[in-house]
Amino acid sequence: MVRLIGILVGLFFSGWLLVTLAVGFVTWASEPKIETAEHAFHEHPKDLDLASNGPFGHFDLQQVQRGYKVYKEVCSACHSLNHVAFRDLEQLGYSEAQVKAEAAMWQVPGVDPVTGEATTRPALPTDYFPRPYPNDVAARAANNNAIPPDLSLMAKARHDGAAYVYSLLTGYQDQPAELLAEFPDSKTPNGLHYNPYFANLNLAMAPPLSDGQVDFDDGSPNDLDSMSQDVAAFLVWTAEPTLAKRHQTGWPVVLFLIILSVLAYLAYRNVWRNQKH
Ligand code: HEC
Repeated sequence: MVRLIGILVGLFFSGWLLVTLAVGFVTWASEPKIETAEHAFHEHPKDLDLASNGPFGHFDLQQVQRGYKVYKEVCSACHSLNHVAFRDLEQLGYSEAQVKAEAAMWQVPGVDPVTGEATTRPALPTDYFPRPYPNDVAARAANNNAIPPDLSLMAKARHDGAAYVYSLLTGYQDQPAELLAEFPDSKTPNGLHYNPYFANLNLAMAPPLSDGQVDFDDGSPNDLDSMSQDVAAFLVWTAEPTLAKRHQTGWPVVLFLIILSVLAYLAYRNVWRNQKH
């Protein structure tokens, strides 16, 4: 009896599942497909070949240093880097003294020792990169009502992050005529900028970089494309400063585990060699 009830209940649920499946399929198939401009014109990031890519990746420190310079001279006017401290720059190959001097070129919030009033002071290596705006309201007011996001983890936060940043910086263009012909309502609003790599195609950031904007001490190319690659490489580092170390430690660990497995197997064979099992 219990068994019969069990079977009936089972049948009921399976039947229900089939019915909902069928209903779902019919609605899906009969719904008209609404094509949107975002869907039709959004592009996936271009390929970007960085030294840090892949399981054996490491940082090209010269490139990451150049990317830091691009951040410092251009992006830092609007974007914070909340998770990075000046002392972290030592990992890029700068000496302690260089980091100290570098930090001192930035102003961070401080307190006047006499009056106790809020003021600014030169940064120390232990300070984190300062925010460009005192608060979100100020950030919005200066940027057409959009808040420039923190860039520390941007390379991790977006799919294919480094390639995305690179594509975004080099992807500004005029809105294609086909787009307007197909979707007359999707004209880029005033104050926004068309960029097919951005999810909704129009973003509040004006093209921040252009050819020759930053000069590199080592005379490296400073066209838009190269600088965009450099700053993307820098943002991979800010998002995962320990990447190279992780790879360096990871592979010996994998090797060790393989050897250990072989030894364990041989030991097992040895222990059980005269036993029937
Ligand atoms: C004048 C201010 C300004 C400067 C300079 C600037 N940005 Fe932006 N950025 C913005 C604003 C505003 C947004 C938000 C755009 C939006 O949401 O529409 C943004 C968004 C972004 C995004 C996020 C896009 C997303 O998917 O959400 C990235 C990445 C970015 N900026 C990178 C950079 C880099 C790299 C630089 C330096 C080369 C830079 N920005 C310089 C204002 C700026």
